[in-house]
Formats: sequence, structure tokens, C-alpha cells
Amino acid sequence: MCGIFGYTGEKTSPSLFISGLSRLEYRGYDSCGLAAILNGKVFLKKRSGKIHQLKKDLRKNRNIKIPICILHTRWATHGSPNKVNAHPHTDCKKEIAIVHNGIIENYLQLKNELIKKGHKFISQTDTEVIAHLIENFYNDSSKTEITLEKAVLKAVKKLKGSFSLGVISKKDPEKLIAVRKGSPLIIGIGKNRSFLASDIPALLAFVSKVIYLGDEEIAILVKEKIKVINFKGEEIRPEIEDVKIKLEEADKRGLEHFMLKEIFEQPKVIRKIFSSYHPAEGFNFPELRFSKDYLKELDKIYITACGTAYHAGYVAKYFLEKYCGLDVEIDVSSEFRYRRLNLKKDSLVIAISQSGETADTLASVREAKTKGAKILSLCNVMGSSLVKESDSVIFTLAGPEISVASTKTYTAQVFCLYLFSLFLGKLKKSLSEETIGRILKELEKIPFYQEEILKESWKVRKIANRFSRFGSFLFLGRGINYPSALEGALKLKEISYIPAEGYPAGEMKHGPIALIDEYRAIVCIALKDELHEKMISNMQEAKARKGKILALINDNDDQASSLSHNVIYIPQVLNQDLSPLLVAVCLQLFAYFVAKKRKCEIDQPRNLAKSVTVE
Ligand code: AGP
Repeated sequence: MCGIFGYTGEKTSPSLFISGLSRLEYRGYDSCGLAAILNGKVFLKKRSGKIHQLKKDLRKNRNIKIPICILHTRWATHGSPNKVNAHPHTDCKKEIAIVHNGIIENYLQLKNELIKKGHKFISQTDTEVIAHLIENFYNDSSKTEITLEKAVLKAVKKLKGSFSLGVISKKDPEKLIAVRKGSPLIIGIGKNRSFLASDIPALLAFVSKVIYLGDEEIAILVKEKIKVINFKGEEIRPEIEDVKIKLEEADKRGLEHFMLKEIFEQPKVIRKIFSSYHPAEGFNFPELRFSKDYLKELDKIYITACGTAYHAGYVAKYFLEKYCGLDVEIDVSSEFRYRRLNLKKDSLVIAISQSGETADTLASVREAKTKGAKILSLCNVMGSSLVKESDSVIFTLAGPEISVASTKTYTAQVFCLYLFSLFLGKLKKSLSEETIGRILKELEKIPFYQEEILKESWKVRKIANRFSRFGSFLFLGRGINYPSALEGALKLKEISYIPAEGYPAGEMKHGPIALIDEYRAIVCIALKDELHEKMISNMQEAKARKGKILALINDNDDQASSLSHNVIYIPQVLNQDLSPLLVAVCLQLFAYFVAKKRKCEIDQPRNLAKSVTVE
């Protein structure tokens, strides 16, 4: 849940490293730091708070040029987000420095053992134990010739949990050691230099070739020389891959926030998914490696995901059931992994995750695999742990998503699953060719409808400004737009900090209606679908209790309009099953403008991080 950046090569100004680290700030922004080997010593700079503070501090050392270093931006797990707990952490003699992403589950036991051996700890972190453990093996007097990588290898074998590490030492001043177990780490291959980073955006400005370090692998980097070994100490040949993302894709391009940029990218992403997975020749999912017979025989699917990805799966549940005649069970991953699910050999589990590193989703997948289930993942990040551990993958092709609040990856996940459900419906013959053709035509139009909404974003802004004064929100939807209500509420609460709840409108009368009064804003998704009349009744009930209604409606809906304080128009799609792809854009804009009006930190909301690699 933190960001790691590392460098070895020609002596370079710290501003280069800061620019790399800044692209990882979405992963955590509680504190940050840098450690380098300079003039035979470990040079250390740490700060609580965001990277711009570290940048300021380093300006005082304007003239330093650094040949090797590690940097870190932290999302605090063990110990408060102060300077002492900031990474890098060092050993007793300040000869070894390390940065860490992940959790060391057995750190207390190791810490106690090391304290008994005389090691002195200064932080409350789990990470510091790693520095002392490496020191312990490095300084083992019985072994005369132990290299840094050997000491690291011995240390990591003692660690339980997930971790990616960057390690440097003044005693082996040319080596940058990278370790991956359960948390992502990528090696960037440059000319006379190498990098390491937790995610691709940090490397885009520097390299065009990368190695996605595999699980339980260690890379030893000396300038451009890269050697990879596994945890058994055996050398392995890593696969070198081209970087497929362009630098501009990870840039704000003059916009104030990544979130706004990413909301506006949705039509482009949807077009890309459509042309990639449904080119002229028909359906084409290159990484879907299941046999047609296997897919044809399926009668049940399990979906596991967290947060926004869970809501995408929830939308998909509706159409997978409707189009493919399947039973679909869906759970948030933190529940899925502990349920006694009746998974059998060859049951299909769909795991949805933007990052592919979400701890609970990975744990669900691992649990499902022990029962013989097959895993299809929907993921946005190549080389992520989820991709590596899945039998089949559908990449969501949304490009880097930097804002902590997921937007374009949500609609990308839903859209990919629509195409998958049509493909499955075709195989299972639960949908006729004619129906599939009709739905495909509508799917192709989705980017145009989304553009219509985006062109009118100023209208959403006006309404959001008005509603931004409310202290709490209810989002109501029915049927396939019930998950849209959940997602709308999540977007609003995570970036504006306003309490917001998503509810199935029909369930209001069983309790939540007690919340309604003139101080409560109620966002109703009231499109002209088969449940429209029911939704109108629910709006009437809310209005009778003086709730302030903002309704998302189709054109010419006087009934819904007359019950609402404000309305936002959603283009009418022939097939309302596709409407979540439009409602989402609207509710994302709404949350964005409310948060902006309230002057919130939109791209980096408090207490959150983009990828949640802890339980
Ligand atoms: C939503 O805006 C959040 N970023 C969060 O709920 C997110 O969807 C969740 O943590 C799952 O992340 P993943 O898709 O990377 O697995």
C-alpha cells in the first residue's frame, strides 16, 4: 500500500527521483523519504506528509548528485504517520537502508529476538525489523564473505507476510537489491542505469523496457546490470517486456485533477474495449484460455471483488443471470474468503480488481484455487499478482488510473463483462444471434451517450454546488441500477467525506425511511425501465417526508421531474440494462463537483490509498 522507487546509475540530481516517486503518491501519502549512498555513507532524508515537503527539503542539498538510492511514499499501517516511522529504515549502525511495501506478519516475534541480540529499534513499524535482520546476517562474524544479496536472501526467508523491498548498503555501495513477495515491483531497464518502482507510471519517463519481478524473486541491480535469483538462490532468466503505456496517459494534461481527466477518458476507453474484444470478426478475448466446452457447461459463477470493483461485479450479476441463465453469487472479497462456499473443482470464480494487488481479492482467489476452482480475472494492470495467479484474464484496457477514486476502470469493468456475457450467451445459446446483434449495436453507442453527458458537465456542476451544503445523502436505485446507487454513494463519501448510503429503493420502508427529513439529500436513479413506476412510488414516499430529491431521469419524464428538486437527464438507451454505464459517469461528475466545492483533496482523499494490499 506504499510506493517504492529506486535508482542505480550515473550520478543524478534528486529531482529525477522525486519526479518518479511523485507518480506513486496515489499509493499512500502519509510520509515519504529517500536514502542514498553518498561519500561512503547512508544519506537519509525523511518527512511526514506529502512528497512536495521532501522536495523542498532536498532543495537545500541542491548540488548533490546521487549514484544509488531508494525512495518511499507511505500509507501507514504500523505506527503513526510521523517522521520516525517514515521509510527508509536503517539498521543499528545506519549502514543498511530499506524501503518496504506490504506487511510483515511475524515482525513482533522477530523484533523481540533481535532486541535480545542487542539491536536497537527506533520506530513502531514492522519494516524496521527487516533492516536489522539483514544487518544480523550481514555482520555474522562466522561467515567471512557474505554479500548483501545473500544477507537479504537469508532475511527474507525469515519473513512472513507480503513485501516488496528496496535495499542498499554502504558496505556494498554499488548494489540496489529488489525483492518481491506478494507485493508488486517492477525493474526499469535504462542505458547505464536501472530503476525499480511499485508501478509503471513511475518509470514511464525513463525506460521503455521493464521486468515484472515474479513472486519470491530478488533482483540485484548494478547500474544497467541486472541479475535475478529466486528465494532458493538459483539464477533465473527474467522476461523483458516493452512498456505499452505512454507517458501522457499518466499525466493530468493541464486538468486540475486526475479524477476529472479519468472521468472524461471513459468514451475513449469504451471504444478501445469494444474494438479490441469485438473486432469485425466477432468476439475475441485473447487471454481467455478456457475451452468453449467448459464455458458452455457453466451453470453458476462466483464473483469476488472490493469497493468499486465489487459494484461493477454487482451490475454484471444482473445481466449474467439474465443473458446467460446462470446463477451468480457475489461477495466482497473480505467476506468471500472466509465463507464456506460450496466451490467445487472447476467452479468459475471471476475476480475483479483494477490494481490486481488488493489483498482480500488475492486471498479469495487463493482460497478458491485450493478447492480446484478456475479463476477469470478482470484486471487493469499487466504483471500484477492477480494476473499472474489467474487461469484467464480480461484486461480492462483503461490505461493508468491515478486518482484514488476509481472511475474509468469501473465502466471499463462493467463494459468488459457485458461483452463477456454476450459471448457466453452465444456459446450457451441462451441469447439469439439477433438479440446479441441488437445489444452490441447499443453497446457501440455507449461512448456517444457518455460524451453527451460529459458535454453537459457544467449542468451537473451547478446542481452539485447546490447540493454540496447537505450533510448526508441517500442514493436510491432499483434492479440493475441498485449497484449504481451503491457506487454513487461510495464516490461521494470517499472524496467529499459526506456520509452517503446506497440503498435499494424498495427497501426504504423497512427502516432507512426513518432517516428522511428536509436536511437529507436523496439521489434517485429513476430511469424509464421496467421498475420505473415502483421508483416513482418510492420518490413520492421520500418527498412526503420532505427529503430533497435529485433525480437522474430520462427525457420527458414529467412524473419524476415533478417530484424532484433538481433533475439530471440521462440519455435514453434502447436497452436499459446498459444504463449503469451512463449513470456512473453522471454520479462520478456529481461527486467530483461536490468535493471540489467543499475544497477537498480530490485525487488523494484522507486515509485512503489506491491499492489496498493489507487485509
Ligand atoms: C473506489 O473508488 C476505490 N478506489 C476502492 O473502493 C477500490 O475500488 C477497491 O479498493 C478495490 O481496488 P481494486 O480494484 O484495485 O481491487
